Amino acid sequence: MSDRRPYLVSRLQGFGTTIFAEMSALAVETGSVNLGQGFPDTDGPPEVLEAAVAAIGAGHNQYPPSPGIPALRGAIAEHQRHWYGLEYDAATEVVVTAGATEAIAATLLALCETGDEVVTFEPYYDSYAAGIAMAGAERRVVPLRAPDYSFAVDDLRAAITPRTRLILLNSPHNPTGKVFTHDELAAIADVCIEHDLVAVTDEVYEHIVFDGEHVPLATLPGMRDRTLTISSGGKTFSCTGWKIGWACGSPDLVAAVQTAKQYLSFTSGTPFQHAIAVGLGLPDPVFQGLADDLRVKRDHLSAGLAAAGLEVLPTSGTYFVTVDIRSVGEADGLAFCRALPDRCGVVAVPNVVFYDDRAAGAPLVRFAFCKRLDVIDEAVTRLKRIA
Ligand SMILES: Cc1ncc(COP(=O)(O)O)c(C=O)c1O
Repeated sequence: MSDRRPYLVSRLQGFGTTIFAEMSALAVETGSVNLGQGFPDTDGPPEVLEAAVAAIGAGHNQYPPSPGIPALRGAIAEHQRHWYGLEYDAATEVVVTAGATEAIAATLLALCETGDEVVTFEPYYDSYAAGIAMAGAERRVVPLRAPDYSFAVDDLRAAITPRTRLILLNSPHNPTGKVFTHDELAAIADVCIEHDLVAVTDEVYEHIVFDGEHVPLATLPGMRDRTLTISSGGKTFSCTGWKIGWACGSPDLVAAVQTAKQYLSFTSGTPFQHAIAVGLGLPDPVFQGLADDLRVKRDHLSAGLAAAGLEVLPTSGTYFVTVDIRSVGEADGLAFCRALPDRCGVVAVPNVVFYDDRAAGAPLVRFAFCKRLDVIDEAVTRLKRIA
């Protein structure tokens, strides 16, 4: 046996192959319907696709400016103004990134000293834990409690320490589908202001809301200049493979993110930047149509899961719906998901991967409904075998 030090640094140990890769491989191997990973199986607006092709044809194929092409930064600023009344200077308060993922990682790397703490809500999107670890920071989680995924403000207050650097919030929330209410956001804002904290918000599902309304934390009093708002074109325009994301905030916050970002990707996806700029300027019904389409799919899959005997937890936004498998006499979501392809030819994701508190996440399983209705129908037919 070699006593050589492992190649992977200790701060990244525990971040092996993601469950999404494992489950997607299992889907291919078993010919299962893949409702694991959240990507749509239809294309987004044709205007956006055509704009990417046109940009390639027009020779927009070399490095763009590191913070993003001016047309896209302008379109992002205009989008924030149009939808939320938030004014950003496109030149100094907007940075384009390689997906929201890079925006999150660059933000954590830029803002956190080693040993700083980042407060986030559990369950949490898996890249948060890795980004926090890469920055040498520590995560502290505030539980969102099923079935309604509310949180106790006292739990949030208890998570704040003198080392807390920022609160990282995701709304609409993956995996739960929770859309944080105005009152909840106001409570988070109070804590940020009281402790002079930065808020970082991941709003990639901002246009995928079925019940309630998406409210950016930055719109709350006193929050505009302490909030970095992150989003991406992947979900809004059904092009998750393009990886065009962005962050908006005060010039000093954006400059910090840009400093880290320039040494990660420097820049990315010139023709796709042009296309997302076109997409962000499309008329409102295009955005509403996305939510309307996914609402039908949510209802369709939720009804099918319920018909299979599974307790379906309410979901107000995103691509995802969660079930509690205790309703079918099971308790271990990871084992359930590993067996599901053989049992009935469907792939899902165990929510435990989004939890530090493994007991809280154990009986929960996430299904993606951003698929064609015939694909959802096929999955529903297969899932009846569970009963
Ligand atoms: C909550 C959340 N944030 C960020 C991302 C990643 O976004 P992007 O593909 O733009 O990097 C995802 C993708 O699934 C997500 O669910």
